[in-house]
Order: sequence, then structure tokens, then C-alpha cells
Amino acid sequence: MEKITVDLGSRSYPVWIGSGILEEIGRYLSGEEVCVVTDPTVEARFGGAVLGSIERAGKKGRLIVVPEGERSKDFSRLMEVYDALVSFGADRSTELVALGGGVIGDLGGFSAATFMRGIPLVQVPTTLLSQVDSSVGGKTAVNHPRGKNLIGVFYQPRLVFIDIDTLSSLPQGEFLSGLAEVIKYGIVLGEDLFYLLEQKRDLILKRDRPSLTAIVSRSVEIKADVVAKDEREAGLRSVLNFGHTLGHAIENLVGYGAIRHGEAVAKGMAMSTLISERMGLISEGDKKRIMGLLAAYGYDLVLPAFSRQEYAAAIAADKKAVGDEINFVLTGGIGRFILKKISVLDILDFIEH
Ligand code: NAD
Ligand code: GLY
Repeated sequence: MEKITVDLGSRSYPVWIGSGILEEIGRYLSGEEVCVVTDPTVEARFGGAVLGSIERAGKKGRLIVVPEGERSKDFSRLMEVYDALVSFGADRSTELVALGGGVIGDLGGFSAATFMRGIPLVQVPTTLLSQVDSSVGGKTAVNHPRGKNLIGVFYQPRLVFIDIDTLSSLPQGEFLSGLAEVIKYGIVLGEDLFYLLEQKRDLILKRDRPSLTAIVSRSVEIKADVVAKDEREAGLRSVLNFGHTLGHAIENLVGYGAIRHGEAVAKGMAMSTLISERMGLISEGDKKRIMGLLAAYGYDLVLPAFSRQEYAAAIAADKKAVGDEINFVLTGGIGRFILKKISVLDILDFIEH
């Protein structure tokens, strides 16, 4: 098992990564009572192993199951989690385990952060996106009817426990959606990771365990480093939004749910790469490698057809917009980022060429 530390002083925590480790989770928990928040698909696959492990460790385990999907990141589901915690007699020593993808991680994390002003949280991510991104770094949230993740807090877990084997049952679309975030780390912060993604493409797409372990570990290392330097996103952490400004705009235009997050981010990363090249920030060779890698993993990089006005409104609606200028993440070559304020009009000009 590999251990990566998220270094946040007294709030530092380990991220354990391994293969076939889920049944060991009980030994890593500290509460006598553990409430496992999950969804039906994840419960059916991994609920028994996790509860069994909790019981073998001499603890009492309870399940709180909410419907799967983005819709569960709302106040009525949050209230159901609180109701279950109250009816189980949970107190400040009760540990909450978020077992599932990013939806469960965000909802469970927000519940743990707010119940009795905060109970210990353990993230056990089971999708590629949640393993490499959402489980690490302490962002928790539910949605408001008028916007995603509008209600949330930073609340760091006590530990993150990643079993790579859980990825074997992940539908291909979910797998590729998470992989877009891995590619993102490679483009802006990890030349070595980018190279690994190029070299091991076939093995990664076959979900070869050592290859998956290597890319998940490196992604977590990169994210942990960014979070340790800029927990509250005052600057550096915003580079993790590479491809996301345009990605969010595309999700917004085609309608949430009509396209997977990672597919939209892949289009956003391609466009941001082309903009970087036109601004003279990146060589033709690096541009070709980035576009080649995105194509090699099968992403469709064509932008959906919407008018200039529609793109402008969708980009400006992004919460990172400041006046008509937005903080935009560009690449300065593989493994390097450049943060720049650019106007929405400039982005549109680039998109149109
Ligand atoms: P998700 O949580 O909706 O999970 C996707 C689907 O996969 C679900 O239907 C789930 O039941 C199923 N599933 C989970 N694990 C499985 C497994 N091992 N095998 C088979 N099926 C499995 O989606 P996601 O992509 O993991 O997360 C998306 C959410 O993450 C969004 O709400 C987004 O806002 C959030 N997010 C948060 C952060 C953060 O920093 N907090 C970062 C990125 C994304
Ligand atoms: N998903 C971006 C972040 O955690 O900051």
C-alpha cells in the first residue's frame, strides 16, 4: 500500500492507495460507530465488504443509502443524511465514511462538515474522478437550484482510502470522464504523468492494475501538492480548472447530464491548448502531443455548435468571471501552466478561428 500525505500542518492526512485493500478499511477507522454514506450501485458492489471490515475491527457500522446521481447533491438528500445520523444517535465521535463517487463524496463530506459542527470524515472514492480529484483537497458541497456547488465548505477528511480494484466495474464512460482529469494534471503540472499516459495508453484503457495505480498515485501526488500550497484556491489551486471554464460552458449549453463532465473538459482542454498556441505560449510540437493524446484516448474534440452570444453568456456565467475578463488557465508547454486574465471576447475570437 502506498501512502501520500496531504501536508496541511495539524490537519494533514494520509491518502492510502492500493489494490484489493477495501476489506482492510475497518482497521484504519477510529470511531467506535461508523456511518457509511453511499448509493445503491456502490452499496451492491462494495457495501458488504466495507461493513464486514468495520465489524471485524470491532466497530458498529451503519449504512445511509441515497439515490445515485447529481440530483442527490441537494438539500432534501442532505436532510435525509442528517435524519439518519440523528436516528442512529450519532455524536461527535461518530465517523462518517463517504463510499462512492464524487456525488457521495461531496454530499457525505458536507454532511460530516456540518453535522454537530463537524464529525470525522473518511473518503473512500470508487470512481476514477473521485480517486484522482474530488476525494482529495476538502471541497464539499451541495447544489442550489440555480447553480452547481453553490453551498459548500472546505472540510478536509481524516484520511482517504483508495482501492484501485473498485475501478474494474466502472462503466467506460465514467472511466473516460475521470481520465480527462488525469490528462489535465499531465498537461499543466506533470510532464512525467503525460509521458506515462502516452506510453501506457493501451494498458490504461484495458485497466491494467499497475498502470492504473501509477496514474492514480501520480495524480494524487500532484493534487496533494497543490492543495498543500493553496488550500483555499487563492491562486495556484485554480490551475486545476484547466479546460474547465470552457468545459462548464459546454455543459451549461448542451444541458447538464447531456454530456459527461470529462468529455466537456476534454473539449475545453483542446480549445485552451489551441488558444495557448495562438498566443505563442506553446510550441507546435507540444500542441500536437496534447491534441494527439486527447484523440488517442478517444475524446471527441469538436465544440458543439452554438452562437457567439450563447458561448459568451455561458462563459460569463462561470463563477470565475470578473467583469468581462476571466481568469483563464493556459498551458506553457507540457507540464507547465500559465494563468492569465483574458477577455471573454478574445476567447470567442479564438474559438471562431
Ligand atoms: P458519481 O458520483 O455520480 O458516480 C458516477 C456513477 O458511478 C454513479 O452512478 C455511481 O453509482 C457509479 N459508481 C461509483 N463507483 C462505481 C464503481 N466502482 N463501479 C460501478 N459504478 C460505480 O460521479 P463522479 O464523476 O464520481 O463525481 C461527480 C461529482 O463530483 C460532481 O458532483 C462534481 O461536482 C463533483 N466533484 C467534486 C470535486 C471536489 O473537489 N469536491 C472535484 C471534482 C468533481
Ligand atoms: N477540482 C478542483 C479542486 O479541487 O480544486
